[in-house]
Amino acid sequence: MTGFRERPVRPGDRLRPAVRNSGSLLVDNIGELVTNCFGAGEGGPLGIRRNAALLVEDGVVAWVGSARDTPAADRRIDAEGAAVLPGFVDSHAHLVFAGDRAVEFAARMAGEPYTGGGIRTTVGATRAAPDDELRATVQRLRTEAMRQGTTTIEIKSGYGLTVADEARSLRIAAEFSEDTTFLGAHVVPAEYADRPDDYVGMVCGPMLAAAAPYARWIDVFCERGAFDVDHARAILACGQAVGLGVRVHANQLGPGPGVQLGVELGAASVDHCTHLSDADVEALAAQRVDCMCAEGGHTATVATLLPGAEFSTRSPYPDARRLLDAGVTVALATDCNPGSSYTSSMPFCIALAVREMRMTPAEAVWAATAGGAAALRRTDVGRLTRGARADLMILDAPSHLHLAYRPGVPLIRQVLHDGVPQCRP
Ligand code: NIG
Ligand code: FE
Repeated sequence: MTGFRERPVRPGDRLRPAVRNSGSLLVDNIGELVTNCFGAGEGGPLGIRRNAALLVEDGVVAWVGSARDTPAADRRIDAEGAAVLPGFVDSHAHLVFAGDRAVEFAARMAGEPYTGGGIRTTVGATRAAPDDELRATVQRLRTEAMRQGTTTIEIKSGYGLTVADEARSLRIAAEFSEDTTFLGAHVVPAEYADRPDDYVGMVCGPMLAAAAPYARWIDVFCERGAFDVDHARAILACGQAVGLGVRVHANQLGPGPGVQLGVELGAASVDHCTHLSDADVEALAAQRVDCMCAEGGHTATVATLLPGAEFSTRSPYPDARRLLDAGVTVALATDCNPGSSYTSSMPFCIALAVREMRMTPAEAVWAATAGGAAALRRTDVGRLTRGARADLMILDAPSHLHLAYRPGVPLIRQVLHDGVPQCRP
């Protein structure tokens, strides 16, 4: 066993295309292993084990134990005493778009408020872009996220807003993610500005029919200036009727009915949660269900917090402590999009959550891994226990604490996705 040593960056560090390796792979000499198995190791939500090792077979975690006790394997990665964590689960991202809105960002930093009005700018650019340009953007952002430890990422449509453009956005998204979300109800596009009822009818009819084959989830931006609660309920119910799971953009720009609508419909997640009433928090906290993943179970509807959006819109951060203290399950995600949060970095969101939202480092790491998995109702990711996908990162640091303690520093040494190394040590 060697102690943790910082390792110099080498010129060969880069992403490699995923090629499934056959045979077994042992990751050993792990100084701190975050399993997210509640009650394991030292106890606590992260289930930390010291001086550990982990065996991968067929892309799945086959064994977790002490580094003194390792089974034989075909190949070996020496973690050199570093921390190993489950890959981040980014449960909220809008990656299918064209253009950027850097000028709008600069105006906000000079005092302009964020209203969501810029969404239509991105809709125009996205409609005009060829498929290959959209695909290249998703690939670029997916790779960027992977380099920062993200092994699962949800991808939404929502910048097409025609039948054909929403369907192609989701078709492209499905090339990169199992968790694709139909967000035809992002805003009412300009050509329907005077007849929102007609747009809602179109979303529930031909647009949903064209989008559903490529989508696992449906989402609505339920906010003043986007969709009111009646339209949102109608759209989400249509999605449920064809088998899509529900998620909601709720209570981002002001108080509103979105969170309670999500709870009413059994949403997997309500996202943003920046402006909450006591009744919103109580409604979320009342949804507790049993599970093996957290002390006392978790809430069926997760509150997904997106601090990159508050950073980039210069807005007050959501009150994470109020949610956690009420027993609500919290996830952290990037909200990566060209308007309100153009970051793909889960470590950045963890640092914001700890510094600005008073989450502990352990709460933030859990929310960015197991919390994201709960928000996507996934049991195969967000943990490193037997049977889970071998999605993990080796840090250039001895502890998960360093993700918040060393903000802005590229601490992800190596990522394994389905057991396949993505960037070389
Ligand atoms: O989650 N709030 C709605 N949608 C995105 C922002 C989209 C944009 O500004 O382009 C969000 O923040
Ligand atoms: Fe969003």
